[in-house]
Amino acid sequence: MKKLIIINGPNLNLLGKREPEIYGKETFNDYLITLKKNYKGASIDYFQSNIEGELIDKIQEVGFTYDGIILNAAAYTHTSVGIGDAVKAIETAVIEVHISNTFARETFRHQSYISPNVKGVILGFGLKSYNLAIESFIL
Ligand code: DQA
Repeated sequence: MKKLIIINGPNLNLLGKREPEIYGKETFNDYLITLKKNYKGASIDYFQSNIEGELIDKIQEVGFTYDGIILNAAAYTHTSVGIGDAVKAIETAVIEVHISNTFARETFRHQSYISPNVKGVILGFGLKSYNLAIESFIL
């Protein structure tokens, strides 16, 4: 059984309430229940933090034992050299995901400190971006 973890960055705890026209109306907790039902062949852990250092700590903690990390670093994607370095430092493969198509939005969202260090990037499919990332590890 593949051991996976979804790591979500700042403001993603507000999914369902936050800008629903961009991020949808479903809460991440509800989505996670469906996700776990759909992929019984994988164990899917979940971690969310609004704090950059906590995200780095978690990446380091799981980054040598897990089979895959699905990382939506949210706004830190565009600013955090530290998270980019953490992704580079670990052994576990990382898929970067975004709910929205960041390239169709403001230019500051076109820059990612994560992308150069990941196996792949999936963006723009709503919450389904996470399904696609999980499938890339298990199918
Ligand atoms: C996001 C895109 C980021 O630009 C933004 O700061 C987020 C969410 C996404 O999933 O679409 O918080 O990562």
